[in-house]
Amino acid sequence: MIQISLEGRTALVTGASGGLGSAIALTLAQAGATVAVHYRSGQAQAESVVTAIKAIGGRAQAFSADLSDHQAAIGLVQDVDRAFGSVDILVNNAGMDGTCAVVGEDDPQRWQEVLAVDLIGPYHCARAALAAMQKNARGVIINVTSVHEFIPWKGYSAYTTAKAGLSMFTKTLAQENADKGIRVLAVAPGAIQTPINEPVWSDPESLKDLDEKIAMGRLGKPSEIAHVVTFLASDLASYITGTTVAVDGGMLIYPEFRHGG
Ligand code: BGC
Repeated sequence: MIQISLEGRTALVTGASGGLGSAIALTLAQAGATVAVHYRSGQAQAESVVTAIKAIGGRAQAFSADLSDHQAAIGLVQDVDRAFGSVDILVNNAGMDGTCAVVGEDDPQRWQEVLAVDLIGPYHCARAALAAMQKNARGVIINVTSVHEFIPWKGYSAYTTAKAGLSMFTKTLAQENADKGIRVLAVAPGAIQTPINEPVWSDPESLKDLDEKIAMGRLGKPSEIAHVVTFLASDLASYITGTTVAVDGGMLIYPEFRHGG
């Protein structure tokens, strides 16, 4: 029988108080990892993720940091390393879509904020995690990107730019570390039903429009991302590095082209 085991590994999941992050944290714990549950402001939610992990016999602790503050991002990784003795798995999950505004009508300050959280924060977390991983010559870094590392999205140029950048960062970092026992990957979720896109799925008309953009015709569930992240973090994925795994129900296979053309 094939089993995924992360026994003896420590995982840090950023943005783990809700959305995809809490599902990822819980699933990694189900596979046996000790989990650092990072949050920025959702302390109560992060603590409830920790409680849920402890309820299944797992080990977890909540850590707070504002990842747009780069010293705080570095400090977070160092705190986790100190608390648990290693950082074997880093899931750079924290991110935000930003405010919808086309370039010219947008606020440059907000544009930079999205880059700070979605790209530069992950860079600092990865950089600090590498130092911890190199001690044991073992580690996996998984950057959560989006189908929008490939698909342009009107009104969200900061987000698409950050995600495309994070994808290329993933490949370069993977190349730099492939011979050091450290794998670096990206997971690109499509439309997964979480609070980030609630305004879209809570409205029947915009939900119908979104479903039509997905070949499978439905939104994904957070667990469907968490399972892939857990597999990629495990030794079952020992020969995969430097690539993006799309988990999108077929958003990237252009369902609009089932007709016409
Ligand atoms: C965004 C969601 C959006 C989805 C599909 C994700 O990256 O965070 O808000 O629904 O892409 O467009």
